[in-house]
Amino acid sequence: MTPPELFDRRLIFVLGKGGVGKSVVAAALGTAWARAGQRVVIAEVANQHRLSDLFATRDVARNAPTELAPGLFGFSIDVDKSTEEYLASHIKVRPLVDLLVRSRAFHNFAAAAPGLPELVTLGKIWELAVALKDGRPVWDKVVVDCPATGHGIALLQTAGNVSELAAQGPVREQAHRIEEVVKHAGATGIAIVARPEELPVSEAIEAAATLRADHFPVAATIMNGMTPRRFWPEDAAVLARVDLDDPQAAAAAHAALQAHHHSTIEHDHLRELATGTHTAPLIMPDLGPVPIGPAELGILADALQAARHAGEPAVRR
Ligand SMILES: Nc1ncnc2c1ncn2[C@@H]1O[C@H](COP(=O)(O)OP(=O)(O)O)[C@@H](O)[C@H]1O
Ligand SMILES: [Mg+2]
Repeated sequence: MTPPELFDRRLIFVLGKGGVGKSVVAAALGTAWARAGQRVVIAEVANQHRLSDLFATRDVARNAPTELAPGLFGFSIDVDKSTEEYLASHIKVRPLVDLLVRSRAFHNFAAAAPGLPELVTLGKIWELAVALKDGRPVWDKVVVDCPATGHGIALLQTAGNVSELAAQGPVREQAHRIEEVVKHAGATGIAIVARPEELPVSEAIEAAATLRADHFPVAATIMNGMTPRRFWPEDAAVLARVDLDDPQAAAAAHAALQAHHHSTIEHDHLRELATGTHTAPLIMPDLGPVPIGPAELGILADALQAARHAGEPAVRR
């Protein structure tokens, strides 16, 4: 599998363990595409509010696109509001919808009904993906910043579950239409994000296997937070020969060897991610302990583009 596959898709789900950088990856992908002249919307789900931080902009409105940068929009999916819209489109009697939406019992039910919040959320994403204006797609790219792995997979699987379990009727038909788009290998791509550490990598490998077994189009993996390589095996051999009787030289050599050792471990994790998922991971560098803002997203967007053109991990071997 070659990385550019991800760049050809229109609907991109960004998935991975909590804290690995899904929101940052979604924002960097969106930045890369918007800079290339595409009209992009990043959808954040489950009432997260990361986009306004990342783009140092006013709050992203709920259920309405908010411009974050030229050509790049954020869309924060509000589950309650989406449920109301969903009902309004299915129940023709408006007063009944109002009554339902106002009742606390309904909200308790909607929050607890298995799969309903996920179905409504996925339905909203689907609307963005299929929206047309004057016969053309409204969005060239829809990037979804998913919740952490387990919930993210549940979100993706919800349409299939509903279309399998629901009785014949409009809900089942719509769930089926959503499922078709979400599993469409030409249109949709799932990007699984990891960090160069044991747990995020094993979670990514497991997620890729689960999703593929369920016929979801896993289009790429992204290794976020790689330390740029500064030392190579040949350097290590030289560093090991440094005169240990010179305390300053010994300390410097020790620090360099440690950095080399750290980088070697990261590259072991990178290889593990590649072989475990049968992908050539795209690499995003660790930018250090700085808050991520538009400037940093620009750097990460460039890194993703470069990794894309390399067609393989952007490392010298
Ligand atoms: N490449 C990177 N370099 C430096 N910091 C990063 C990088 N990617 C993510 N971070 C930081 O790591 C933290 C988690 O990232 P975030 O995108 O919020 O993760 P997730 O959405 O997966 O929970 C944030 O503080 C973010 O600024
Ligand atoms: Mg996030």
